[in-house]
Amino acid sequence: MSGNSRRRQFLSVTVLAGAGLVWSGSAGAAPPAQGKDKDKDKKEKSGPAEVNATEDLMREHGVIRRTLLVYEACASQLGTGSPPKADAIGGAANLIRRFAESYHERLEEEQVFPRLEKAGKQGELIRVLREQHAAGRKLTEGILKSATAEALRDEGKRRALAASLQAFVRMYQPHAAREDTELFPAFHALYTEAEFDELGERFEEREHQLLGSGGFEGAVAEVVQLEKAVGIHDLAAFTAR
Ligand SMILES: [Fe+2]
Ligand SMILES: [Fe+2]
Repeated sequence: MSGNSRRRQFLSVTVLAGAGLVWSGSAGAAPPAQGKDKDKDKKEKSGPAEVNATEDLMREHGVIRRTLLVYEACASQLGTGSPPKADAIGGAANLIRRFAESYHERLEEEQVFPRLEKAGKQGELIRVLREQHAAGRKLTEGILKSATAEALRDEGKRRALAASLQAFVRMYQPHAAREDTELFPAFHALYTEAEFDELGERFEEREHQLLGSGGFEGAVAEVVQLEKAVGIHDLAAFTAR
């Protein structure tokens, strides 16, 4: 959805709420027929409900976490007789570079960290998060260089590559979890809902500038292909027995 349609949707909800016309959806009560038509109309015009700025960042963490699962699978397969193809490892590292480092982390560094720092909040956490962004970029550079068919024939290089993949996963899991539960809530608390809606539009514009037309959906499609390449795409296979 475009920023304009997101704004239209927000404004129409605000206007309806101001006029006391938003249906509360209380148990057993059906919305008035007119409201139903309006909802249907709105859905047809503006598509599915939009996500706000922190939901956006959190669903990006979802893509990154799925890529970390690919990293984990690659790391363990590197220690077996049937290591993953260099393309799968390189593809995952490329997705981390383009989606996590050049887009998601950049958004945090441009929009989230400075705003919190200016407000005097979460300074120590942000210091560590910045260090981890830098450490991650170094690891990714090494992983991209080592993800070649020739390097994978060497046992020592396979072991070193597996260690780099594991180090990245070990760092990024607590990194993203801390952002989801401490950084983003503190960030959201700095804004009114109207300002936060505007911010969501700016994030969306930046997404198109940095990621191109594929955007978030393109990254999800890419991670699905990587999961298939390393044999972890079947979600049911993870169900505890
Ligand atoms: Fe981060
Ligand atoms: Fe993040």
